[in-house]
Amino acid sequence: MALPAALPTLLPPPKLALRGIAKRFGATPVLDGLDFEIAEGDFVSIIGPSGCGKTTIFNIIAGLLEPDAGTLLYEGAPVDGLRGRVGYMMQKDLLLPWRTVLGNVVLGLEVRGMAPREARDKAMDYLATYGLAGFENSYPRALSGGMRQRVALIRTLIVDPDILLLDEPFSALDYQTRLYLEGVLMEAVERFHKTVVLVTHDIDEAVALSRKVVVLSHRPTRVKALHDIEIAERSPIGARSDPHFSGYFHALCSELDIQTKRVQP
Ligand SMILES: Nc1ncnc2c1ncn2[C@@H]1O[C@H](COP(=O)(O)OP(=O)(O)OP(=O)(O)O)[C@@H](O)[C@H]1O
Ligand SMILES: [Mg+2]
Repeated sequence: MALPAALPTLLPPPKLALRGIAKRFGATPVLDGLDFEIAEGDFVSIIGPSGCGKTTIFNIIAGLLEPDAGTLLYEGAPVDGLRGRVGYMMQKDLLLPWRTVLGNVVLGLEVRGMAPREARDKAMDYLATYGLAGFENSYPRALSGGMRQRVALIRTLIVDPDILLLDEPFSALDYQTRLYLEGVLMEAVERFHKTVVLVTHDIDEAVALSRKVVVLSHRPTRVKALHDIEIAERSPIGARSDPHFSGYFHALCSELDIQTKRVQP
């Protein structure tokens, strides 16, 4: 029996797609035509050399920066940026030092017009869930680095964004605190069914947390490789103990030209 020439596709379009995204700053070409997709509910990590444009990609997705060329598609439709749909945890300047923990957490809710009483109750619930009850009136300077990141993560999650953009959220933390917060993130992502894009320098973090890793080249930056990560165990330590973990780890090191063998004297 002859098949019709073109079968209508039954697959939904990806949640987010970058098509040929290019950006230069002055004479420096930074992004040189990026293409990748993020499916609904996916956890995608972006890794690449420092300065290759990872934060720039987030700024374009968030609608804070315009690309010079290319298209951003949200659920199949071209958009200028996902302002209002993303929760963006930036690489720096996470908390406002002049606001208390509570003041920082309610910020996004206030901006969205939630009544102060309701915003406060919701924030207190989240603070209790993430072990920060009793710190609501503290200022960020009085918290440890891990606690500050937890507050920043709560502030990102509480507005219930469609997509989470996390730019090296744990890079300044010690390893133990990082493992703990990775667990908090994974649990939250599963509980709230979020789509996540994570930028990280840490290859083992990318393997442990993600379903897909996008490897970027040096500038002018292109997608160098895409890896699907098939690790069933969804906890930071469990994933690192999975028999497939080291294979992915070595593959990504080699994509990034990181030497994993002992250098001969
Ligand atoms: N607003 C800007 N004006 C001029 N140049 C910029 C601007 N923002 C970024 N750049 C340049 O673009 C390049 C990419 O910067 P970006 O911050 O996106 O890199 P990154 O991959 O996030 O780096 P890192 O891993 O160190 O965080 C760098 O060379 C940077 O100097
Ligand atoms: Mg950056």
